[in-house]
Amino acid sequence: MGKLTGKVAIITGGASGIGAATAKLFVEEGAKVVIVDVNEEKGKAFEEELKNQGGEALFVQADVTNEEDVQNVFAKAKASFGKVDILFNNAGIGAVKPTDELPFSEWRKTIAVDLDGVFLFARAAIKEYLQSGGGVIVNTASMYGLVGAAGSAAYNAAKAGVVNFTRSIALEYANRNIRINAICPGFIDTPILGDTDRNGLIEATPMKRLGKPEEIAKAVLFLASDDSSFMTGSALVVDGGYTAQ
Ligand SMILES: NC(=O)c1ccc[n+]([C@@H]2O[C@H](COP(=O)([O-])OP(=O)(O)OC[C@H]3O[C@@H](n4cnc5c(N)ncnc54)[C@H](O)[C@@H]3O)[C@@H](O)[C@H]2O)c1
Repeated sequence: MGKLTGKVAIITGGASGIGAATAKLFVEEGAKVVIVDVNEEKGKAFEEELKNQGGEALFVQADVTNEEDVQNVFAKAKASFGKVDILFNNAGIGAVKPTDELPFSEWRKTIAVDLDGVFLFARAAIKEYLQSGGGVIVNTASMYGLVGAAGSAAYNAAKAGVVNFTRSIALEYANRNIRINAICPGFIDTPILGDTDRNGLIEATPMKRLGKPEEIAKAVLFLASDDSSFMTGSALVVDGGYTAQ
């Protein structure tokens, strides 16, 4: 039996990178997965890929900053799979620019996707779990939610917000059978890195390599499964040693 047999998981930003690697692992562990992404083409193709591998998967196109889209995701998840047990609240964007050159619109867009989106999906999951009797949320923060870094202030502010939002809602619902934790990845080899100089990121990482999305997926599985049954409000760091420096 898999670690998630019989569970239904919603994964935002599920069409790429960390979200997609986690969806694959969740399916291997017996979960039915709802892939949520703004990118319809990638999302549909990934749904097919998972189904071809024998998994139960549904893609729902949504923008995590849109309240109606969020409601629609939960409605479709319940219509297809009957319930929701796990939310991997993972969609995100990065903005790399010195602060004196950062337009307010880019600041707001980053905060909207990386923090508002996490709030909207977490709130919807909590409402659902209060009715169903419980569930799990894993929010994707970043090691940049724990330490500062030059050049990505909006992203870092949003991710620090995700870490303390996670702690706060974990406390609110700790005695309601709802566990809520954050994951804080270091530099992971996914499309979000764009044209960033990867050698610089490797050099800055004590283990002298980038992390793989599959290495984050394993930690997310831990937080989403009963293996972490006494954990709530934590921020689990998986960063090749970066924040230990
Ligand atoms: N890769 C890293 O180095 C790293 C490090 C720390 C944290 N993270 C975080 O991990 C998460 C996943 O990122 P990734 O590295 O897999 O990047 P990625 O770009 O491969 O995946 C992010 C996904 O989110 C989707 N997305 C973006 N905006 C959206 C929106 N408004 N609504 C719905 N979906 C949207 C994208 O279409 C994409 O499929 C992000 O929250 C990111 O900040 C990544």
